[in-house]
Amino acid sequence: MSAAKKPPVLILLGPPGAGKGTQARMLEEKFGLVQLSTGDLLRGAVAAGTEAGKAAKAVMEAGQLVSDDIVVAVLKDRLADGDTQHGVILDGFPRTTAQAEALDGMLAARGQKINAAISLEVEDEAMVERISGRYTCAACGEGYHDSFKKPAVAGVCDKCGGTEFERRADDTAETVRSRLETYHEQTAPLIAFYAGRGVLKEVEAMGGIAEIAARLAGIAEQAGA
Ligand code: AP5
Repeated sequence: MSAAKKPPVLILLGPPGAGKGTQARMLEEKFGLVQLSTGDLLRGAVAAGTEAGKAAKAVMEAGQLVSDDIVVAVLKDRLADGDTQHGVILDGFPRTTAQAEALDGMLAARGQKINAAISLEVEDEAMVERISGRYTCAACGEGYHDSFKKPAVAGVCDKCGGTEFERRADDTAETVRSRLETYHEQTAPLIAFYAGRGVLKEVEAMGGIAEIAARLAGIAEQAGA
């Protein structure tokens, strides 16, 4: 008898603006996987005024990394929710080697392991343009861009019909540069970490959104999604 198939665990690695959130939501829709974005979880904690949110707010606005303890605790709580049983896409986690090791422990406790760590390969200069044009629907969180991804009807969300949109507090050109530096210093070393584990998939991510989505769908299918 063959062993039961484990739900896939995918990681999206890449600098701010690489398209992690955009692609994670597309994979979620196509395969029924659950997007786990530590950025979204932390922004939720800031908005709710929790202790974790109070500690994270200034750090996020400066484009630095929130402490491993806080981020690991936030992710662990979310992973305990029942909907994560069918497979997950980690978006923006892990970002340090300590977080990667903590993730291994959390997955081992569930009898799971990482199927693919997908590194979105992009150019830093283009990321400033992508991020400064970004906005989201205030009602459902669907992401848009002033030039690259406009709603079909101007001012109306394609997904939910919402008409209120918002921009992130950390999406200023100055903070983006700080976030890019932080990425190269603290998170890019995870590319070699996951190559060493034999799960790294490098994906050229400077093309159009649909083209990149097709590449990621192929990886997700190989991973059993
Ligand atoms: P987080 O929310 O994770 O932000 P980030 O990593 O900086 O990534 P972004 O959300 O900015 O970009 P993305 O790659 O998702 O791009 P998107 O798809 O939106 O983290 C925010 C902060 O929280 C961190 O700075 C840190 O302080 C803290 N934090 C979070 N996780 C942490 C952790 N694990 N440890 C410690 N601290 C943590 O795309 C961007 C724009 O480009 C959109 O408008 C989109 O429409 C457009 N776009 C996407 N793809 C394309 C394409 N192919 N062509 C043209 N446009 C495109």
